[in-house]
Amino acid sequence: MSEITFSPGTRTWLLSTPHTSYALRLDATDAPCHVHWGEPLTMAQVEALPGMYRPGRTDSFAGRRIAEEIAADGGDRYGVPGLQVRFADGTRGIEWAYLGYEIAEHESNGQESALTLELRLRDRHYPLAITLHYRVFHDSDVIERSLTLDHMRTVDETEESALSVLRADSAGWALPMRADYRGGHVVGDWAAETQLRRDALPWGETVLTSRRGITGHQANPWVMLDAGDADERRGQVWSAALAWSGSWRIAVQRGTDNRVLVTGGFGHDGVSWRLDPGERLTTPTFAGLYTDGGFGATSRAWHEYVLHQVLPDPQTVRPVLYNSWEATEFDVDEAGQRKLAAQAAALGVELFVMDDGWFGARTSDRAGLGDWTPNPERFPDGLGPLIGEVHRLGMGFGLWVEPEMVNPDSELYRSHSDWVLHFDNRERTELRSQLVLNFARPDVAAWAHDWLDSLVTEHAIDFLKWDMNRSFSQAGWPEHGADGSADGLWIDYVRNVYAIIDRLRADHPNLRIEGCSGGGGRVDLGMLARTDQVWPSDNTDALDRLTIQHGFTQLYPARVMSAWVTDSPNSTTGRAIPLHFRCHVAMSGVMALGGNLTEWSDHELREVAREVARYKEIRDTVQLGARYRLSDPSVPSGLTAVQYTSTDESETVVFAWQPTRSISREPGPVRLAAVDPESRYRDRDSGRAYDGALLAAYGLPLDLPSGDYASSLTVLDRISAH
Ligand code: DGJ
Repeated sequence: MSEITFSPGTRTWLLSTPHTSYALRLDATDAPCHVHWGEPLTMAQVEALPGMYRPGRTDSFAGRRIAEEIAADGGDRYGVPGLQVRFADGTRGIEWAYLGYEIAEHESNGQESALTLELRLRDRHYPLAITLHYRVFHDSDVIERSLTLDHMRTVDETEESALSVLRADSAGWALPMRADYRGGHVVGDWAAETQLRRDALPWGETVLTSRRGITGHQANPWVMLDAGDADERRGQVWSAALAWSGSWRIAVQRGTDNRVLVTGGFGHDGVSWRLDPGERLTTPTFAGLYTDGGFGATSRAWHEYVLHQVLPDPQTVRPVLYNSWEATEFDVDEAGQRKLAAQAAALGVELFVMDDGWFGARTSDRAGLGDWTPNPERFPDGLGPLIGEVHRLGMGFGLWVEPEMVNPDSELYRSHSDWVLHFDNRERTELRSQLVLNFARPDVAAWAHDWLDSLVTEHAIDFLKWDMNRSFSQAGWPEHGADGSADGLWIDYVRNVYAIIDRLRADHPNLRIEGCSGGGGRVDLGMLARTDQVWPSDNTDALDRLTIQHGFTQLYPARVMSAWVTDSPNSTTGRAIPLHFRCHVAMSGVMALGGNLTEWSDHELREVAREVARYKEIRDTVQLGARYRLSDPSVPSGLTAVQYTSTDESETVVFAWQPTRSISREPGPVRLAAVDPESRYRDRDSGRAYDGALLAAYGLPLDLPSGDYASSLTVLDRISAH
């Protein structure tokens, strides 16, 4: 059980989660100061902390001896500001005044109850209220935090006018002094997303950011920090993740005194937001997690949080889908799709998804985006007959859309060229021959909602793949004025995307949505709060996917990780990989098929049908179970192995992949995690039984075929305590 308590004598709040504590207090100036984040402590212990430990000097890198809960700007603070405001008279900086607090119990996600703390402060002189929000759950050590800013004047009180918000982070997270620090995060690019990096944390300021209007392929909004002594199974790890799908910034500061501060929120450097009298600015959740079970426990705690607190529909099993993109690209028509659908159904596929190319003049990426009616030459009777056929074959029907985009060569752009992001007197930069519609505009957002709503109302569509294939450029809205309020589009755009998806889901409760952005360009907790799964990368090469999936699952669970089995050689990398290896990689996430089935041999079709059937037997464990990394795929030519354990611990699934073989390095056995030493386990295929104690101490012998790209899938049933 979690708890939030307050001690009036020291003005200290203690947030206790099942395995951790977090504490803050007000100092003599009313500044909200960080006290503790880590091991469970009592109120008496956290109250003693500020007097016992006075780390740093007043002139250390952040200025203040004690970190503030949100790194305000001004005075003797010199760190990265998390809250930076310019008032109407030009005054900058914050001087705190305490207003009050509230602790409350709430429903979360319709079932689990959560506790919240609202700490209300304001600027001592200017009409700005600053509220710090905290939320804890009874079944999680994740602490959600955010900030709201309120311009306290009403519109009639004309002596005060708009203030400028130069930075409004959601939260600052302070870590204790340690001898050393290491930073973990992911870097990437198109077709090479979520490459895990875990390096010594540089002294000074490290900025992870996206200035693209989307989460980005190049970084993902989370960090994982440890004192350099954690490993997969042991050690203290502090991590934080932002629930936002537009531009963002997380700054990690390390002083020579080895204190570390993390501040993060939406927006990138250089944009500012105008706050008019009576207006409120709400920031997204920046969630934090402390674990003392190493990187493995950290990832599993985030997975559980996503499953229990973030996903809108965690309970529905993710179906095996077929997606036609790699088979046809833009060469889409009813006859071709019917043929693929028949083949997919015969393999056990449950959801058939038609990708790009079905609408307007979209026969290549150069035209048609924005004209969302079926191409009459390709679908003479509309989508109805194909959808009917897909349903007759026993599958759900899914459709690709990219609502936020327009090709200049489209009817939409010819009639609404002012609808795109643009500045006066500036080129409109095209990427993939497309421009970005300004979703911050209420008329554009209403138009998008209306055609999407009609599409899913008029057709029996079970699933949308919502794509977004380029970053912002010339992010302007000339009609909206030049006084700083136009920068608000970076936020309003994302909020309107969220609002459209939320409304579609509310009005069409059976509709499922996959998030996609040219692969994994918009994967984050904000998108996961309104989608069912996400597309991690356009790179479907199974070997590359091992690394991408390793980075992806540091934070996000297998339940949301779409993974297609595609053709060999792979269309992106040209690499040839045997089918069983490709299947096993996909089966460790949400398995799907994405190859050109019309060219697969009977032998391949039989093999993939068998793997699909086998996946259905184990997918509850893969999608909902606990994931244990048994090896590190970044070790060249090494063995990669992961284990999934079902929630009731009766089923254990172990995948092993050995891309290359060496006579001097025979793979396995692989030591399992989380096996009960008192129990026996039986291999479902071979019937061989193992003592749990031996699986943990010596490992599972691997039955890997010879040659390169060897892989195995072992399913163990717990049979009894011996
Ligand atoms: C990018 C996506 O990631 C692909 O899967 C595919 O849907 C294309 N867009 C279609 O244009």
